[in-house]
Amino acid sequence: MPAERHIPVLLKETVTALAVKAGGRYLDGTLGRAGHASAVVDLGGVVLGIDRDDQALDEVKAEGRIGIAVVKGNHGDLVRIALEHGWKNVDGILLDLGVSSPQLDEAGRGFSFLRDGPLDMRMDRSCGRTAADIVNGDSVEGLEDIFKTLGEEPRARQIAKAIGRARGEGRRFETTKDLADFIEGLIGRRGAHHPATRVFQALRMEVNDEMGELERALEGGMEILTSGGRFAVITFESLTDRAVKRFFAAHVGRMRSLQAGGEEWDGVPPRAKAVTRKAIVAGPEEIRVNPRSRSAKLRVIEKV
Ligand SMILES: C[S@@+](CC[C@H](N)C(=O)[O-])C[C@H]1O[C@@H](n2cnc3c(N)ncnc32)[C@H](O)[C@@H]1O
Repeated sequence: MPAERHIPVLLKETVTALAVKAGGRYLDGTLGRAGHASAVVDLGGVVLGIDRDDQALDEVKAEGRIGIAVVKGNHGDLVRIALEHGWKNVDGILLDLGVSSPQLDEAGRGFSFLRDGPLDMRMDRSCGRTAADIVNGDSVEGLEDIFKTLGEEPRARQIAKAIGRARGEGRRFETTKDLADFIEGLIGRRGAHHPATRVFQALRMEVNDEMGELERALEGGMEILTSGGRFAVITFESLTDRAVKRFFAAHVGRMRSLQAGGEEWDGVPPRAKAVTRKAIVAGPEEIRVNPRSRSAKLRVIEKV
């Protein structure tokens, strides 16, 4: 099946929140098919777009968009990449985290339990361990930890132990269907979500070190963002959203009352101010057109 086109989520809200100005420099750490980046260029911004997926990069390069410089890399390295590009600071940063629709829809990428394909899940297929390497090779305790911390899977221990037992009987998990059917057989179907949803999320995050990348991108982003520059992050699951919320809150900080009277700043430098008090979410019309936007949350701060 041909990969579906990626529909950028919260597009208008994101470019509005970035307060794009003509000639401004914007770093997109998750370029994908350049949906958001193109909107920034349309408003007069210049974009440095980073992605680690060769397929996405090739498509954007083939389209030859003026105003977007395309770089293969990890957004965890955004400071180094920006400096190598001659950018000491930037006017805005965007991270639209997670997988793109083409990654999810192409069975061969191995991201989805809805399509049978190799259990891969690497965004950058030129390096690193696949999900199959982890499922077939990590200890039962290691798997439990991954399922619990990155998938927030309440049955993490049960699933990890069952995988360990199956491996002991000579079983190997090579495809997405192997693993999805195994988990469904183990815990059955309850509720609207496939019982393998959280395990697949956990494996994807582990394979691509998504939490580590996010942490480095947030830290680095605050370093190179110019005063008055905006930092916008879109997340799709509670784990990454909580990380962004906490990081932004720590930088926004607050005034703390002192016992001796007066107030003192309580937060980590560099300080920032919140652009929106709460996360921005998609409205019913966007969710109707693009159901993937249902779980999207956009948070934005401005460096002061
Ligand atoms: C949701 S898509 C972004 C879509 C994009 N905003 C658009 O409008 O087309 C996420 C993209 O980020 C990339 N990505 C995820 N983690 C990354 C990382 N740590 N470094 C670089 N790219 C990453 C993925 O390969 C994917 O192409």
